[in-house]
Amino acid sequence: MGKVIAIDGPSGSGKTTIAKLLAKELGFGYLDTGALYRAIAIALREKKVAPEDNDDKIKRVFDNTVIGFNNGKVFLNGRDVSEEIRTTEIDHYSSVFSAKRIVRDFLLDLQRNAALNNDLVIEGRDTTTVVFPHAQKKIFLYASDEERARRRYFQFKEKGIDITMDEARKNILERDKRDANRDIAPLKAAPEAFLVDSSNLSVEQVFKKILDFLRTDP
Ligand code: DC
Repeated sequence: MGKVIAIDGPSGSGKTTIAKLLAKELGFGYLDTGALYRAIAIALREKKVAPEDNDDKIKRVFDNTVIGFNNGKVFLNGRDVSEEIRTTEIDHYSSVFSAKRIVRDFLLDLQRNAALNNDLVIEGRDTTTVVFPHAQKKIFLYASDEERARRRYFQFKEKGIDITMDEARKNILERDKRDANRDIAPLKAAPEAFLVDSSNLSVEQVFKKILDFLRTDP
């Protein structure tokens, strides 16, 4: 089992950017667990599963579903879905389906196995609390609602997705509310996590803060 640096936080807090930079700097593997929940949402939507459907229907889809990841890309039954998972529809459905125990259980071993043979930077909502409760390092990254909405807005714009600032804010806040208030593995800061508020910091400043933390507390 390798070393694990786990980073949790709400959407738009900067987890992905920072986790990728850290993995590169330290020579660790990298896993974006949100991408796995997004790939699952695609699998379920393609089989016309609705969030209110029962677990049997979901299980039948899972019996024929293989999720894989490699080099920052995510695969659904061998198909590269790395781009497809980044739509506003999948923003919504990944959050809705991720509240279900059967979905979370399906992805648990996959996430844990990612650290079997190498050191890992992993990011998501419950990587510090449920997936790797004994991670060597835990970080909780957050930012103000306004700043996260602003970042989301520009992310969408960059991808050519037409969205207003208000819609971006709604997209983020609705999702966070659901992710933080669900019964199973809700988003929350582990008590021992290093807390970083990225609202008024540049990527470089957040990165430095976290590197300093990792180095001063080896
Ligand atoms: O990080 P993201 O925005 O790509 O994640 C998409 C959704 O997946 C998010 O709204 C909640 C869910 N998720 C989760 O429940 N647990 C994780 N560890 C990662 C993501």
